Amino acid sequence: MFKCEINVVNEQVQSMRIRINMINCLKYLGLFFATLVSVSAMAQRSTDFALLDQHGTFHQLSRYGESEFVVLFVQANGEPASQQAIPLLQDLHTRYSEQGVEVLMLNPIPGQSRQQIIDELARIGVDLPVLQDSAQLVARSLQVTTTDEAFILDPESHDVLYRGPLASGIAVPATPPETPYLEQALIALLEGDDLPEEELPAVEGAPIAYLYQERFGDRQISYEDEIAPILKRRCTTCHIEDGLAPWAMVSHRMIQGWSPMIREVLITHRMPPGQIDEQEGAWEDIHHITDEELITLVHWIDSGARNAGEGDPLREQEELSEQWALGEPDLIVDVPAIEVPATGMVDFKIRRADLNLTQDQWVQAVAYNVGDRSVLHSLLVFAVDPNIVEKDEAGLVSPENTEFISLYVPPSTEEKFADDSAFLLRQDRDLSFKIRYVTGGRDTIDATRIGLYFRDTAPEYEVHNVIALNSQFSIPAGVVNQVEHAQTPVFENDVWVESFAPQTHTRGKSMTISAQFPDGTVQRLINVANYNFNWQMNYKMRERLLLPAGSRLISETVYDNSASNPQNVDPEADVKVGITTYDEIFSHYIRVLKPVQQ
Ligand code: HEC
Repeated sequence: MFKCEINVVNEQVQSMRIRINMINCLKYLGLFFATLVSVSAMAQRSTDFALLDQHGTFHQLSRYGESEFVVLFVQANGEPASQQAIPLLQDLHTRYSEQGVEVLMLNPIPGQSRQQIIDELARIGVDLPVLQDSAQLVARSLQVTTTDEAFILDPESHDVLYRGPLASGIAVPATPPETPYLEQALIALLEGDDLPEEELPAVEGAPIAYLYQERFGDRQISYEDEIAPILKRRCTTCHIEDGLAPWAMVSHRMIQGWSPMIREVLITHRMPPGQIDEQEGAWEDIHHITDEELITLVHWIDSGARNAGEGDPLREQEELSEQWALGEPDLIVDVPAIEVPATGMVDFKIRRADLNLTQDQWVQAVAYNVGDRSVLHSLLVFAVDPNIVEKDEAGLVSPENTEFISLYVPPSTEEKFADDSAFLLRQDRDLSFKIRYVTGGRDTIDATRIGLYFRDTAPEYEVHNVIALNSQFSIPAGVVNQVEHAQTPVFENDVWVESFAPQTHTRGKSMTISAQFPDGTVQRLINVANYNFNWQMNYKMRERLLLPAGSRLISETVYDNSASNPQNVDPEADVKVGITTYDEIFSHYIRVLKPVQQ
């Protein structure tokens, strides 16, 4: 991948340099002149977007690329016109879904919760997806001013093809809905005709109160005091010189130049990466960004992304440390050095290393001294049966011969187990690694080292990684939503579940893991609503959960083998289970704690 580098020479020439470099960067990305786009034009432009619905399902406009059109209706709970429209939308869905028409609703009303939306639709007897736009970014991008406006969107170009009323007569109790404005437009579009030329009546919905207006009014947002701190909190751990991200956030100029792209990654929830559904569960150290921060960043960008002050907090950044994150390890293991080319897709690298332990060891923590941060995207560490040789790549990662210990996902370079728990590394084990690289625009060699930290005494709990595994499926080319399941064996004794590291390859779309308790009740524990192959994370619960003896964990994973899946390495191929990037897997590692028998 191309790197945009900025060399600071001295203060006088610095801004010129930055400008030149920035232009190079933007040119490369096809964003040349992006900064010249006027504020109003930017608000008008059509854009991709992504949101979760009332059930926690992820919807992204561009991922409906296999469909012809997306109908989007602006809904509000308790609003008579919305209530009257919902059965019409259901009817549209029934009659047009076969022709590739998706029907979605958008709820941009702050404070209307998922449960309230579920209840509202249940009263009407309909269950269509309602996208919760709690930061109002989508409504704002579409310049929605009232509820009850309806849209027809092109999922590929993101263009707005129709905007206006759904039908006439809605919300006027005496008149049943008559002229189906939107449906007429839909029929014309499906037939490839121009839209009927008729003057559309105004939509008479309830006005939408925008949080950004309430919060900022005419006030200029301060780059120095409000924007830079958000970027430092949420972005610069990776967007730093020599960091993992392809460009570094080192100055206001850089941010301003990238601001259209930043807006897009925020509204599609691509960055910060690896976001999960935060309305389910409570999580430690996840990449996330709050609605408040999103509203502030996007309002600042839409107002021109200016810096009125002198200072630039992004210039003062800490250097990445070359040291071990947790001090000198008890044992350092070298991952064999691997050559990573400048470009192209690099298949998983599977390697092993001898350990030569003289006794069993309790591993309290694992730290990573990364060789080349700009290319290493993930590294799984397993304890492996020493009889498995280097050439037997499938054997080195197969659950029969291995137990998963730890996962490196940038930017964190350490994984410490809780004080009362540790992983028992048996004397006769070696280590194996499954490594993923993303090329960074130059040839490089990654020689990463792994530090193990032992404890002298047995802990209260043994860290144990169970796996929800399914190796019996295939996915035909082009299939958008293939649902697969797997479960752990039933736990014979009480265990505490602590974290989840779900793993699929490029067709993985979403996944959930639930606990099934001995009485049969099922509780969803994690919803990775928008799985991204580039970001295979380990999600740690803020508080471990007791699974009484007789419980088990069940996992559901949805795969998307269509061309609308941006990660898909080959949408033309029927896919089966295997170890290369072109194959698929369903291997969700789940960390549980078992009391140690003293
Ligand atoms: C965990 C590391 C990480 C964090 C945190 C992060 N980024 Fe990124 N960012 C990346 C990587 C890596 C890429 C390259 C694309 C990819 O791998 O997904 C990227 C790409 C981008 C791009 C270019 C889009 C593209 O198509 O490549 C933008 C814009 C961006 N990030 C903005 C942000 C913003 C804004 C934040 C904070 C709100 C942020 N990033 C937080 C790692 C990160």
